[in-house]
Amino acid sequence: MKTSTFLAAALATLACGSAQADGATLYAEKTCLACHGKDGKKTLLPDYPKIAGQNAKYAERQMLDIKNGVRTNGNSAAMKGIMHLVSDQEIKELAVFLSKLK
Ligand code: HEC
Repeated sequence: MKTSTFLAAALATLACGSAQADGATLYAEKTCLACHGKDGKKTLLPDYPKIAGQNAKYAERQMLDIKNGVRTNGNSAAMKGIMHLVSDQEIKELAVFLSKLK
């Protein structure tokens, strides 16, 4: 009984750990780096935003607004095409990751 409870808890921890990717992994896996650069500083096109060191709260809001179609600048469509790949929770993690880039 005790062993199975322990095993269940251990498995839950493992499953959780692998399911929750960190910001750096998300940034690479969700192809963010293709447009914003490996470090968020060198953009694919000159009118794409540099996002390294941006305020986490601001970045999160902008990503949500682009995802939900509230923000529709000339270039928003390029970014919106990717946003269906990320959940709101992942957006939060990405925003914190970006804010810590130098
Ligand atoms: C296909 C190119 C492309 C990809 C891929 C892409 N973006 Fe963007 N991103 C853009 C463009 C273009 C804008 C500016 C949109 C606008 O002008 O409204 C933008 C805007 C942003 C902004 C808001 C910047 C600001 O100063 O307001 C953030 C934050 C951001 N992207 C993060 C990400 C993250 C994180 C990913 C990966 C999940 C990602 N982007 C993937 C092109 C892209």
